[in-house]
Amino acid sequence: MYYIGVDLGTSAVKLLLMEGDGKIVNIVTKEYPLSFPHHGWSEQDPADWIKAVKSGIRDLTENIDKSLVAGIGCGGQMHGLVALDKDDQVLRPAILWNDGRTKEETDYLTNVIGKENLAACTGNIAFAGFTAPKILWMRKHEPELFKRIAKIMLPKDYVNFCLTGVHCTDYSDASGTLLFDVKNRKWSGKMLDICGISEDVMPKLFESCECVGTLKKEVAEELGLSETVKVAAGAGDNAAAAIGTGTVWNGACNISLGTSGTIFIASDTFRVDSGNSLHAFAYADGKYHLMGCMLSAASCNKWFMDEILRTKDYETEQAGITEDRLGKNHVYFLPYLMGERAPHNDPMARSCFIGMSMDTTRQDLTQSVLEGVAFGIRDSLEAAKALGLDIRTSMICGGGAKSPLWKKILANVLNISLSSPETEQGPGYGGAILAAVACGKYASVEDACRKLVRVTNTLTPDPELAALYESRYQTYRKLYPALKDIFPEL
Ligand code: XUL
Repeated sequence: MYYIGVDLGTSAVKLLLMEGDGKIVNIVTKEYPLSFPHHGWSEQDPADWIKAVKSGIRDLTENIDKSLVAGIGCGGQMHGLVALDKDDQVLRPAILWNDGRTKEETDYLTNVIGKENLAACTGNIAFAGFTAPKILWMRKHEPELFKRIAKIMLPKDYVNFCLTGVHCTDYSDASGTLLFDVKNRKWSGKMLDICGISEDVMPKLFESCECVGTLKKEVAEELGLSETVKVAAGAGDNAAAAIGTGTVWNGACNISLGTSGTIFIASDTFRVDSGNSLHAFAYADGKYHLMGCMLSAASCNKWFMDEILRTKDYETEQAGITEDRLGKNHVYFLPYLMGERAPHNDPMARSCFIGMSMDTTRQDLTQSVLEGVAFGIRDSLEAAKALGLDIRTSMICGGGAKSPLWKKILANVLNISLSSPETEQGPGYGGAILAAVACGKYASVEDACRKLVRVTNTLTPDPELAALYESRYQTYRKLYPALKDIFPEL
């Protein structure tokens, strides 16, 4: 049998076809537009996701016996607000996870409702990209549309809805709404009241590996698949990536260098860090995780290459950064192109290059971008360490992890070893694993990961280089506090 894994990302959807023994037999990518209608805003048309997912599934299954497709599982970009009316029509473009328009609403939640109350209701505090502040924004700025909201969904849930007709979500993605009581795994009545919506507006909650339904008749016909194909509830993309890299044991860690950069620590029990700079979210198999998220990671490098250097040849650009230059760069880059989530929680933060002189080269700037992202991940690692977590090793996935140079910089900045899985397709592979569990092929997510996920190589830090980076990191940490008050003036 075959299982389809869907990674509903920010710039594209990646789909993969997995056999029951974990072998990937096909991969398809379909891009879609991302729009920034105002400074700091980030939106997408949900219809583009559906078009891309459907044509992706058709391409993916073109050369196989389609009757052998048993299940579909999706890992999706988190926190996005998809609002539907009573006829299940999308009311406005989705407001995405990296949208920074809700400073006022986030301040209201933080200062008027209060951090302690938010944490007591949800286990988390307010961040601009979370779903609840976006609902408050709609209530204030689009009152007519707000009144018509009949259902709220997260991006991958809208895909599942279009496939099955079921309004559903999973616990990991629900965690990022700030409307969900993570510890007790239920919607928070208090938070729904604060946002002016009732519980029947929220989708039904499922475990990630539960089957939410089967393909609607017309969708099955359109895709040439059987109506018996099961659709798993799926997961937020970071939880799906962690499943795809086998990060399911208590204390296991996964780093994702995608559009966003995340450090994800699996936990058997619910826990929070004292400052709530890490997200305390639910995970598969009834478990939990802690996560630090930086809003711009591989996207910093993409921006610098595509928009500034105007090159698509990332490899050549990085080839000039020779070993002897590592740990010695005088230039620093702050990776806050879309503001920052962990640990600063500041939608007004912006990127900058600091420390340039007449002998600064193009390579120094490229290197500083890679290093700035690594330092940003280190900030979240520090928050995890402050909680007493002893992280010595992590899995790594995401587009940025394909660069051996970036991986080396990261391993030495974090001073931990980094292991790559045989399959680099983190969220997509996780989605396919969830589909296989939903179809009964494996007893649990942990059982599937034990059988399917294998490590190909591990990179260990070099003590001398790690020491050089330690001192650079200590300088990096002073930059945001020094600049913080200037950012709103920009
Ligand atoms: C996690 C987050 C991002 C998106 C990216 O909290 O906002 O990682 O899920 O797709």
